[in-house]
Amino acid sequence: MSQSKFWKNSTVYQIYPRSFCDSNGDGVGDIPGIISKLDYLKSLGVDVIWLSPVYKSPNDDNGYDISDYKDIHEEFGTMADFDELLAEAKARGIKIIMDLVINHTSDEHEWFERAKAGEEKYKNYYIIKKGKNGKLPNNWGNFFADCPWEPFGDPKNEEYYLHLFSKKQPDLNWYNPEVYREICDIMRFWLDKGVAGFRCDVINVIFKESFADGKKQLALTGKEHYVSTDGCHRILASLRRDVMDNYDAFTVGETVLVNVPMARDLTDVERDELDMVFAFEHMECDQIGVKWFKTKFKPKRLMKCLTKWQTGLDWNTCYFENHDQPRSVTRFTEGGEFRKVGSKMLIGLNFSLRGTPFFYQGQEIGMTNGAFNSLDEIMDIESHNVDKMAKSLGIIQPFRWNLINKTSRDNARTPMQWSAAEGAGFTSGTPWLKIHPNFTEVNVENDLADKDGIIAFFKRMNEFKKSSDVLTCGSFKSLHEGRSVYAFEREYEGEKLIAICNFSTKRAAFPDGIIGERIISNYYGEDKKLRPYEFVLIKPEETKK
Ligand code: NOJ
Repeated sequence: MSQSKFWKNSTVYQIYPRSFCDSNGDGVGDIPGIISKLDYLKSLGVDVIWLSPVYKSPNDDNGYDISDYKDIHEEFGTMADFDELLAEAKARGIKIIMDLVINHTSDEHEWFERAKAGEEKYKNYYIIKKGKNGKLPNNWGNFFADCPWEPFGDPKNEEYYLHLFSKKQPDLNWYNPEVYREICDIMRFWLDKGVAGFRCDVINVIFKESFADGKKQLALTGKEHYVSTDGCHRILASLRRDVMDNYDAFTVGETVLVNVPMARDLTDVERDELDMVFAFEHMECDQIGVKWFKTKFKPKRLMKCLTKWQTGLDWNTCYFENHDQPRSVTRFTEGGEFRKVGSKMLIGLNFSLRGTPFFYQGQEIGMTNGAFNSLDEIMDIESHNVDKMAKSLGIIQPFRWNLINKTSRDNARTPMQWSAAEGAGFTSGTPWLKIHPNFTEVNVENDLADKDGIIAFFKRMNEFKKSSDVLTCGSFKSLHEGRSVYAFEREYEGEKLIAICNFSTKRAAFPDGIIGERIISNYYGEDKKLRPYEFVLIKPEETKK
């Protein structure tokens, strides 16, 4: 028995094209590079690729600022390359979903250029507001530590456009039915080509219900006016009805600042809006307030959060990494001598939860946070903005660097480490972002040559999950949330499996009463105790068949 929707039986692998594989030596990953690695992805058992943006873009935010939704960014290749990628992936039974960035466009998109040139039609594609007595239209904050209002057009008109992200990413005006029609058309363009759906960027902030001042807060003042609004729900339901329903495709929404009830509404089968969401609460369990203030990781907080979301939603994404988050092995384990075993534990955990597992490139070899020495080596706009803002607040440089070094999104964006060759097998040229010097050890070639490699474990878990009704369809129940040990049960038609993880460098006792046959583990042999970062799937005595 498997789930009836293909995306519920799929393992998804996210590719960040810039950093995946460079075929032409310009230091930037590209589509032909991805094509050259399709056999590798097939061998991992990947069913769906989520492709971060490959559209035309001036690259202010690495492709999340799109200047043409129907064309390919020249650094990545051509539309012919994309079509070949789709065909080659299909030939291997792999589907592709695109990143759909529709909260904003690039300021170099034709729509914005025409708006700037004074065409009323296109001005109405964006959120342009009058200032108030020489002041900004409201007191909102910005996701990239910037001011969200930028002067628009002739200064004597005192007009500003809204950008919740960089100033090169003006927000679209979703009050305008023309915008809706344009986006439907873009979605159909890609679906007609054969893509299997979309990861929808910051989708739950697209509709601003009001532009009134927000309640003052540390970050994102004003968010109560745009997070998961009724208008957003209406648009998502319409997009489903008008576009998605005509294709065998799915959507996964990147939904910022959502809680369980909000996510439940967004994925409610009756409401029919999104299929799954990426929520962030479990990515926040090592921070105080905002993400830049990291605290010591307490495994119990993560466990509680996972349990809350597993039980709160019938089905959702399961993930520990993406291109915006620090690497999971650095974040949730001690790394070092535990890097391999810790990476395997997190992979085992991700496959054992109920939902669709998503993995990010490099996670299957235990890639770690980047090794940057200073801000000069960081490319990400968000990190640079945060540095500027922190400086303006009088925060001294070593302190600022400490925050950025731990949290910068570039930690996950360092080039994929394919081999120990110069350029890590990623490029023959100068990489756009510094390659982690551990590439001589941590790379795909080495890992594949190791029968106990992380990839071997990934494949085993993936195959097992697909063959197991319990892991694919079973219910979830938490059994134990200790200081370092997490245990939960999956159950399907009376058959059970128990997953146990030890989030510690120390040995730990098995939770009381859990005995049974070891099905899969990241260690060999039996032991009375759980070993450091041990992951084990157990078939409990009572249900052994
Ligand atoms: C979320 C994306 O994951 C991130 O990389 C991007 O900067 C913002 N949305 C803005 O598009």
